[in-house]
Amino acid sequence: MARRKETQTAVDLVGAATPLRPEIGVVLGSGLGGFTQALDNAVRIPYAELSGFPVSTATGHAGELVIGTLMGGQTPLAVLSGRFHLYEGYTGEETVSGVRLLHALGVRKLVLTCAAGGLNLDFAQGALVLISDHINLQGSNPLVGENDETLGSRFPDMTEAYSNRLRRIAVDTGRGLNISLHEGVYAAMLGPSYETPAEIRFLKTIGADLVGMSTVAETIAANHLGMEVLGIACVTNLAAGLGAGKLIHSEVLEIAQRVSGKLVELLTNLIPRIAGS
Ligand code: HPA
Repeated sequence: MARRKETQTAVDLVGAATPLRPEIGVVLGSGLGGFTQALDNAVRIPYAELSGFPVSTATGHAGELVIGTLMGGQTPLAVLSGRFHLYEGYTGEETVSGVRLLHALGVRKLVLTCAAGGLNLDFAQGALVLISDHINLQGSNPLVGENDETLGSRFPDMTEAYSNRLRRIAVDTGRGLNISLHEGVYAAMLGPSYETPAEIRFLKTIGADLVGMSTVAETIAANHLGMEVLGIACVTNLAAGLGAGKLIHSEVLEIAQRVSGKLVELLTNLIPRIAGS
């Protein structure tokens, strides 16, 4: 399969660039890229150099794979800084190329972060919420098409798509840092337009606490590959119609950047614990 060969080429490139062999991967959502500064011994590989990754259609910063260590070299870690969204025009399969590369590199525990709108009124702007489950309303699934049996089964189970075990470790870590962590169900929309207030009322009715435009395809691909997933959403805004004003992307990004310090603190303490678990 051509795809397998491309992945191997990327694995070889990463293997030549660093001796680190991380078992944990992190995907950083919009405005949350600051975490890579916390890594030591970091090697940065632009997505453009990784075969199997789609060619970026976005102008400006397309993203990079950063491999480094936390805790004075104790914990090797692979970070995807920047992700591919369906709303940019990528196929479902293209949006999960990063997750598949991480798996091929040996990553078995995956932390997905994202910005999200809050539907649950218990979540204040800036809250961090552990994703307990999702509702995929993107009209797309990254596993559509021929199944590569070497990666996973045709019909993967999604009963515990987000690991209860990793969530418990996260809650415990947050408690020690005085960072309160909520839990909630994430509804994924295609975007790129934000939701209408009627759509938000619908999403509330069907049991969603959060809404966003990413994360679920990666979670599906990771479950297909047998990886353990932890999802952490940063509530950047009240969902459409629940707050006073309109939704503006630059404000969503600004809040994500403001919260990113709290997320970095959580991740730097949480990841070594996950590594040892
Ligand atoms: N809707 C969809 N995606 C988002 C939102 C939202 O309100 N906030 C951040 N990402």
